[in-house]
Parts: sequence; structure tokens; C-alpha cells
Amino acid sequence: MCGIVGYTGKRQAVQVLLNALSSLEYRGYDSAGISVFEQDTIFTVKTKGRLQNLADRLKAGHIPASSCGIGHTRWATHGEPSDVNAHPHATAKLSLVHNGIIENYQALKNSLAVKGYTFLSQTDSEVAACLIDSLYEGDPIEAIRQAQQQIEGAYSFTILFKHHPGEIYATRCSSPLIVAAGEGEYFVASDIPAILPYTRKYALLKEKEIVKVTPDGIVIYEGETAHEPVYQTANWTVEQAQKNGYEHFMRKEIYEQPQALKNTVHPRIADGLPAFEAQDNIPDGFWKRFSRISIVACGTAMHAGMVGRNLIERFARIPVDCDIASEFRYRDPILTKDTLVILISQSGETADTLAALRLAKERGVTTLAIVNVAGSSISREADYVIHTYAGPEIAVASTKAYSVQLSILYLVAFKLAFAQNQLCADEVRKLTGGLLHAIDQTPRALFLDEEIKGYIRRYETLKDLFFLGRGLDYALSMEGSLKLKEISYIHCEAYAAGELKHGTISLITDHVPVVAVATQQALLPKMVSNIKEVCSRGAQVLLICKEGASIDPEIYDHCLRLPDLEDCFMPLVGVIVLQLIAYHTAVLRKCDVDKPRNLAKSVTVE
Ligand code: M6R
Repeated sequence: MCGIVGYTGKRQAVQVLLNALSSLEYRGYDSAGISVFEQDTIFTVKTKGRLQNLADRLKAGHIPASSCGIGHTRWATHGEPSDVNAHPHATAKLSLVHNGIIENYQALKNSLAVKGYTFLSQTDSEVAACLIDSLYEGDPIEAIRQAQQQIEGAYSFTILFKHHPGEIYATRCSSPLIVAAGEGEYFVASDIPAILPYTRKYALLKEKEIVKVTPDGIVIYEGETAHEPVYQTANWTVEQAQKNGYEHFMRKEIYEQPQALKNTVHPRIADGLPAFEAQDNIPDGFWKRFSRISIVACGTAMHAGMVGRNLIERFARIPVDCDIASEFRYRDPILTKDTLVILISQSGETADTLAALRLAKERGVTTLAIVNVAGSSISREADYVIHTYAGPEIAVASTKAYSVQLSILYLVAFKLAFAQNQLCADEVRKLTGGLLHAIDQTPRALFLDEEIKGYIRRYETLKDLFFLGRGLDYALSMEGSLKLKEISYIHCEAYAAGELKHGTISLITDHVPVVAVATQQALLPKMVSNIKEVCSRGAQVLLICKEGASIDPEIYDHCLRLPDLEDCFMPLVGVIVLQLIAYHTAVLRKCDVDKPRNLAKSVTVE
């Protein structure tokens, strides 16, 4: 959370910073600010609210003709969203932007107060700025190094020192930061989309490395040694990180799912069987080693994990736990040597998931990460990594990342089933073929777009809604419910359909809307009974089922029919419908679809 950028080169820094921040706004949008060198001083403007407020304020006032500066877009942790808590935080000697949380900030603040420092904001970040200011005696690298020894917590800092015009200093610890090189211009940023309009040449900073960025190049200081970055080329394009005519990123990303699925799955099939050797460097023998699996993730990624648990247990007959990462850490999980811990994350930076990964590694068990962002902390630290190829996901609400995570979990389940002799090659080939067929059918779920838009008009003023499902449909309902509440602010709950009668059915009265996800043929009779139970209490049911399912029309208000796939593949088409329900409801209610309130795309604090 929080987006950081730094620029030094030949262009107008203010424009570059605003442009880059617009690509990072998904990381937080409580406030925005910039600092740039202007003659022999540092000029800072910051303001509460969206980046547009900052741009407006700059336009209305003064735009310095500077070619070096830093910028920040904030997701508030310490101190409310306000002008004063916005970054950059300036002292007499420097200006600093921060992403992360400084855990011992109160102790540092107390000792800095004794030295005469006063604080304008409630942030931990201003404490870091004052600490570095107090340690600075002419050498920025030395001041940062000494500060690192005192700071506990997570940070990436980008700093301008007043007496070093044209130069940017930066460092990181448990928060992401990259450097990038263009032609005679250099960048620091939290994430790749910020630099794509200018260059695709970037390098990841390692933990606690300190970097000096000047118009002549970049030097990385690591302990006593200094070296140039080892660059890689981003395979994401500017177009992928832009809306390309779509009204919202979320809509664009929903529509990108069929292609993202193909990109992720096709390279991992050889001779009709799942194959992870060439693409992911995972030897075939790997899959034979485990007799327990623990899937750990947060939010949407955890919902993908719930589907994965079902698939792995069903096909490979290996017991699987699926945990919310923030719970996993603190319940002292039983991790035996034959356990495989699978971490799932789009960003690869989610603090809770990263902490769970570190715990698993401390306990000496094997870790496998399913990650979208290459080079992210989780992808670097896990023993094995399978990268999903969704491309950049910008909307805060995760859509295509979920689908590609599912697709990998299908392949993993089939691979485990084969490796552990639960299924023979022909059976696995049939399943893999089924997966490819399901992916080909995903555009048909998108065809329901207009029908969904029409039906959900009645959700404009809704307060509550319930999702019901059984088995895989329950996992899917959890995702549908999260998506809807996240972007439309409607209170909704997902229930295992059979569980409703144990309490929650008391909330079902006349006209209460229920989305009944009933795509599992094997569970259909039971599901129909549960739908009848809510119907007879007056619920208004939107049914989601297979094309061919024969269901009494008396029990639903409207029915959305999905392509008739094998039960196990229905989540791939079902989720698209749930995403579209959430999307259209949010648009109808005039919500900020891509940047829902209080949220950030990448949750790098615990
Ligand atoms: O980057 P990650 O996949 O680790 O993020 C996990 C969750 O924060 C994320 O899925 C969140 O729940 C989404 N905003 C939901 O749409």
C-alpha cells in the first residue's frame, strides 16, 4: 500500500511524477504529494484525496521547472487522511516518502523529541524523516544506513537531500521498490506500471540495499560494496496497464480473462498432461513428495485456494487445509516434513501471506508460490514459484488474477493426482482437455453481460443480499460476495446453502435478494431444496445454473444460464457472472469501481 516514485533526468519532473503516480494510485488514494528540487531548495505540494486534487492544486498554483523529484500516493495507516499526514514529509535537510509501517516509531519519536524535533503529523513516516535528518552529516548513504539500524518494521523510502540536488536516495525493507533506467533518465518506483511509459528496463532492489540515483546512472550500495543494477526487461506493456477504451480497469480485466487463462495454461501442458518442468523449473519428482497440503492466502486469492482445496482432495486424495494468511500465522499450524505449503498472491507483496511464507520456511517445510507479479517478495522467497500470466491487474477488485490462480490449481491438482497414482495418464489427459475446453467456453459467460446489467437494476438501492452455494459453488459464492461488498458497498454474506437453516434463514423475509449459485449437477437436488426454503420465506432469487439444468421456474425470479461443463470446471465460467453482477451494481450505484473506499490493491501491512 502506498505508491512511491522518484525521477531524475531531462523531462519536467512534475509531469513525470504525476503520470507515474496515476499508475500507482491503485496502491492507495487517501492523499498524494510531490517534492521537487527548485533552485537551492525543495518545493513540496501535498493534499488530501485523489491525485487529481494534487494536479488541480499544482495547476492553480506554481509548477516548478524541475527535472528531479519524488512523489507519493497514500493508503493511510498512522493518522487520518489529511493534508498534513500526506507525504512527502519534509525536514530542514530532506524530503521523504514512505511505504510500510515503522513499528517502533513511538520510541524513535520520543528520543527525537528529546533532541528537539517537533512533529507536524501523526505519521510514522515523519518520524523516519526526522531520524534520517538527525543522522545526516553530509553523507546520505551513511545517514540511511544508520537509520536502518534503528528502524523496526517495513519500509521503502525515497528521499531528496537538500544539499544533493538532482539526486535521489532510496532503500527498502519488506516493502517493494524497483529502479529503472531510460535514456539519460532514471526512476525509482513501487511497481512496474509506473515506469512503463518511459522504459521497460528495471531492476529489483534487495532487502536493505541503498540506492543513489542521478542523471548519470544508478549505484546500489550493499554493505561496503557498490555496484550497478542488473537490469531485466519488463514483459508488461503500456497498453496492458491502460484502460484501452474500457470505462473501468475492472471491466477491461474481466474481459481479459479468456486470454489470460490461455496464456497461463497453454505453456504448461505437454503431451496433454500438466507440465511444470520447463516453464517453472519444478522437477517431476517434486509432486510425489507430499502427503499433506496447506494453502495460505488472503481475500480473493484465499477464495481461489478454497476451490484448490476441493480439487486437490477430489483428484489427488491428499488432505488439504486452506487458511486465511493472517490466521495461519498465529494458530501455530501443524507443518510436518511431508507438507507442501502453497501461497497464492496476485501482487506477491501481501504482508500476511509473506509472513505465512516466512513462517513455513522457518519450520523447514517446502513452499510453492502461485504469484502474478514476477520479482515480487513472495516470488523471490518461496522455494518454488509458478507465475500466472494475467498481466498487470490494476483495479483493486481482483478478477483475472483469481481466474488464472484457479487455472494453475486445476493443473496442480491433476499433476498431484498423476504423480501419486490416483489417476492414470489417460484420465489426466481427459481432465486437462476438459480444462482447455472450459477456458474456450469462458467468452460465453461474458455474453451474459447485458442480461446481468438489465437484471441488477433492482439492486440500485439495496442494503443486504445473500449468496448461497454448495461445494465449489460455496467457494464461488464467497468470492461473489466479497466482490459485491468491496465495490458496491452493499452488505452481503455467502452461506453454504445447507447451513442457512441453522440460523441465518431468520434474515430471509419478503423480497430479500438471494443469488443462488447452483452449477454443481451432483448437488443440484439438495441445492433446489435450499432454494425452495428461501423462496417460501419470500426471497427474490437470482439463480445461476448450467444451460441444461432442469429447474422449476417457480423457485426463481430470474435465471442466468452458463455453458454446460463438467461440474469441477464450472467456477471458471461462474466467477465471470459474479464479477459482472458486482461490476454493474457498483456502476449503477455510482461507486468508484476501480478504487473502492478504504482499500488498496496491494496490502503490504499486517
Ligand atoms: O495480492 P494478493 O492476491 O495477495 O491480495 C490479496 C487480497 O488483498 C486481494 O485478493 C483482495 O481481497 C482483493 N482486493 C479482492 O478483490
